[in-house]
Amino acid sequence: MEPLDDRRIEGHHLSRILGDWKGTDAAYAGLAARIRLLVLDGRLPLQTRIPAERELATALGVSRTTVAAAYERLRDEGFLISRRGSGTWTAVPETGHRGGPHTASLAPGAPLDLAHAAPSAPVEILHQAASSAVAQLARYLPTHGYDPYGLSPLRVAIADRYTARGLPTSPEQILVTGGAQAAISLVLRMLAKPGDRIAVEHPSYANALDAIARAGCRAVPFGFTTPGWDLDMLAATIRQAVPRLAYLIPDFHNPTGRCMDAGQRTELAELARRTRTPLVIDETIAELGLDFPAPPPVSDAGGLVLHVGSASKTFWGGLRIGWLRASAQLVGQAATVRAAVDTASPVFEQLVTAELLRRTDEILPARLDDLRARRGHLLTLLHDQAPGWRAPVPPGGLSLWTDLGAPTSTAITVAARRQGLLLAAGPRFGLDGAFENYLRLPYTLTIPELDVAFARLLAAAAAAGLEPVTDEPAAGLV
Ligand SMILES: Cc1ncc(COP(=O)(O)O)c(C=O)c1O
Repeated sequence: MEPLDDRRIEGHHLSRILGDWKGTDAAYAGLAARIRLLVLDGRLPLQTRIPAERELATALGVSRTTVAAAYERLRDEGFLISRRGSGTWTAVPETGHRGGPHTASLAPGAPLDLAHAAPSAPVEILHQAASSAVAQLARYLPTHGYDPYGLSPLRVAIADRYTARGLPTSPEQILVTGGAQAAISLVLRMLAKPGDRIAVEHPSYANALDAIARAGCRAVPFGFTTPGWDLDMLAATIRQAVPRLAYLIPDFHNPTGRCMDAGQRTELAELARRTRTPLVIDETIAELGLDFPAPPPVSDAGGLVLHVGSASKTFWGGLRIGWLRASAQLVGQAATVRAAVDTASPVFEQLVTAELLRRTDEILPARLDDLRARRGHLLTLLHDQAPGWRAPVPPGGLSLWTDLGAPTSTAITVAARRQGLLLAAGPRFGLDGAFENYLRLPYTLTIPELDVAFARLLAAAAAAGLEPVTDEPAAGLV
């Protein structure tokens, strides 16, 4: 893996994103652990040249020997590569089996994963859907199998689901993609160019923030109010920063679990219309209402609103099926652009997803019951064992956005790796190091797994010298 010519981080910048990295370990080990985490969770992009030892030592106010020993360890582990004359740059180990939030192995005995907020598959119904897909496959085998728009039965099933949720949709308005993530990247590729600003909620979905950064665009944050979205701030952001588009997750927002009410959805569409600002509405989690179903989707505001959806959370992420809903004309353009990226989506998985979508109302009740029980269990663990940490009860979605009460998220995440627990630190969901006080805790594992994961989490906090338990009453836990 070679360094990218234009990607380099200066000593003072690296020092800033390293934050307070000094723990109980030897200094070089603490520094190495923090840099490793930043590489694994994407805050320090791959193929980026890092500062020379002397420069970083000066920026951090430590000896050059400390930095040299940290770099040496990371080189041994495969997280850094050095070459005389080219410097030192970030990499990932070739085997990819060293764990880490985004390289977690699916093998048995792997560390417990609280880094991904993604449920396992509904096994029995998925098998049935796969059998039905095998039977239908014969119809497609005599064709070449490439359809850049997606298979017709799946486009029909997705359009029908939108119509049932209150947004009348025709199959021509649907493009099937490789998950919601591919749809987000595709929209950025079509509508934005490097240097453009994109308005985002703060916090927001980490991989969407990454996609925005990798498209060379600049995310401009706006926040929340209690209990809704700060649409006044979004309006001001649109006025002042003139973003090319805004990206929002109104349905059981990742990571906070909030759900936008119907009134704000109308206001949002009106804002798009008034300012002619395209909105990308990510509905990946729309079906996971635990306390109430999400209101009908944000209206399409005469084509200004693009909806992104996914089979990943309703059914299973391993299907890698998502979609874009837009005007038929934009879908036509998107199909042309995607043909140059991944050509088309896999036929078999599309057939499976079409079958699952047709059975959504049969699948969801048990799935939501399970998630409700897991959410309740994790809230009880927090309440009983870490009352100093506060998490509001999310009305849906997959995780608790937990306030740690102190800027300790990254330190706990680093320590957790040694306890066999993968976490995504709060700043993964923010810009410029924000949310160091927060940790996203998914409740997607089984209850016995959650018990073990939570014990490891507390052990990690203790190992990092950050006991979560305080004498404060647990009144904030609502
Ligand atoms: C808000 C949001 N958007 C997109 C995605 C990515 O979904 P997919 O697996 O369909 O690419 C996720 C997955 O966690 C998500 O939470």
